[in-house]
Amino acid sequence: MAAKKAGCFITVEGADGSGKSTVISLLYDYLHDRGWNVLLTREPGGIEIAEKIRTIILNPEHTQMDKRTEALLYAAARSQHFAERVLPALQAGKVVLCDRFIDSSLAYQGYARGLGIDEVYAINRFAVGDYMPDLTLFFDVRPEVGLARINANKGREINRLDLEDIRFHQQVQEGYRLVRERFPERFVTIDAEQSLEQVFEVARTILEERLQEFRI
Ligand code: TYD
Repeated sequence: MAAKKAGCFITVEGADGSGKSTVISLLYDYLHDRGWNVLLTREPGGIEIAEKIRTIILNPEHTQMDKRTEALLYAAARSQHFAERVLPALQAGKVVLCDRFIDSSLAYQGYARGLGIDEVYAINRFAVGDYMPDLTLFFDVRPEVGLARINANKGREINRLDLEDIRFHQQVQEGYRLVRERFPERFVTIDAEQSLEQVFEVARTILEERLQEFRI
């Protein structure tokens, strides 16, 4: 992975229920309609090897999976998706929009699961050959709001187990705060408790400004 990249690498991050996946697909349509050469992707992104690795992570029978194993498998799936899909697109000069990337591992595995942000960053840098996004949009939503949105979609009330979840999601939120503090040059935080239209508008404006710099 020594070849230089030429395109623009943009990632979106945030808690479950932050609306990032909906907004990223609207951003894709917007840029695509305006003639940008864009790739919209997410891990594992249909990449066969990465999908197989993800199946191991998510298998509910694997209750004995160690936290470090989980972190390494996320990094392995990321490495394959990056090498097979993201890097070739960047080298072809595309704008790559990726739903979750290294920062998810830093917040979830590094902080919320307690493995350490530095430790998880080290294995992920190895996994993607030190490439980092040019811009990361962070969709900021309080965990209880995110969870309520997810549950509204499922059409049910928040229950006791969801409240357990809230503690974990609060940890994730704190993890993201630390990660944003660490990489202030590439992170932009968007208030994701506004309406979808407002969130899209803010995200679109930030993205277009950044792409203007990129075009020059
Ligand atoms: P994902 O399938 O991307 O769902 P979404 O982005 O729609 O929430 O992620 C599923 C879960 O996996 C999500 O709770 C975050 C978690 N995750 C990690 O813990 N570490 C990672 O490196 C990634 C990419 C995701």
